[in-house]
Amino acid sequence: MVTALITGASAGIGEEFARQLAADGFDLVLVARRTDRLEDLATQLRNSHGVGVVVYPGDLSLPGTPHEIFASTESAGLIIDYLVNNAGVSGPHLLRDRDWADHEAFIRLMMTSVAEMCHLYLPGMQERTYGRVVNVASVAGLVVAPGGANYGPAKAYVVRLSEELAMLAKPHGVHVTALCPGFTHTEFHDVGGLGVMKSGLPKLLWYRTSVVVNDGRKAVEAGKSVQVSGRLYRVVVPLLRFGVIRKIVVRWRSR
Ligand SMILES: NC(=O)c1ccc[n+]([C@@H]2O[C@H](COP(=O)([O-])OP(=O)(O)OC[C@H]3O[C@@H](n4cnc5c(N)ncnc54)[C@H](OP(=O)(O)O)[C@@H]3O)[C@@H](O)[C@H]2O)c1
Repeated sequence: MVTALITGASAGIGEEFARQLAADGFDLVLVARRTDRLEDLATQLRNSHGVGVVVYPGDLSLPGTPHEIFASTESAGLIIDYLVNNAGVSGPHLLRDRDWADHEAFIRLMMTSVAEMCHLYLPGMQERTYGRVVNVASVAGLVVAPGGANYGPAKAYVVRLSEELAMLAKPHGVHVTALCPGFTHTEFHDVGGLGVMKSGLPKLLWYRTSVVVNDGRKAVEAGKSVQVSGRLYRVVVPLLRFGVIRKIVVRWRSR
């Protein structure tokens, strides 16, 4: 049976990955900082699906955490053939938040740790000629929008990293996908102090984690290097990317 390692499994999209993969019989390694939540989830999944679940506490904004996780899975003899790099936060504003240490921690969590987890786990998958890697990015990594000035760029890095790894790894039986959700019902916006923004947005923009995770799982099986999640975003994102909406607005205004 395949063992899946999921970062950020204590809430939201990561927790949903854990639930869906356990329901399909995957053994799991769950990583996050709130181990009490991971332990509760692990107990539920062992009881309902009879799968093996190991919990690793880890703060991926600290240097060395990916290596510690890798060393732990190696010494436990766990073979990771399904990796979900999902842990993330909305992060500080590059111009307004003046403590650079917060930005370094954000960059390590959102980019460095994703690259390092791929660096550590992909070679083994390639040798075994089987692997699935889902890097949770965002539609914010595909379009330029006024935000905190670093969240979108960090996710753009995850998209490009995944595309390049997908090209390198596919001939070795390893599929890599950047999963790009739009607004998704999780704890993300409350954690990031964006609750007011969330309540002001139309309901049709919001998707459930089950939809996002289904889209990601299907895409990685199909070997797609980038998957925008949700029908609405699959229509809107290309229009935004290629400036179609902006051109229509400009033309309409100049009439
Ligand atoms: N929700 C959205 O609208 C949305 C849209 C597009 C993309 N995304 C992306 O989806 C991913 C999951 O977010 P979510 O929406 O599910 O948010 P969430 O409900 O807030 O969950 C975030 C997860 O990341 C973990 N995490 C945060 N900082 C961490 C750290 N330093 N070290 C280890 N784990 C950490 C959290 O666990 P602990 O706090 O226990 O460590 C939690 O399990 C993120 O990468 C996010 O950027 C979300």
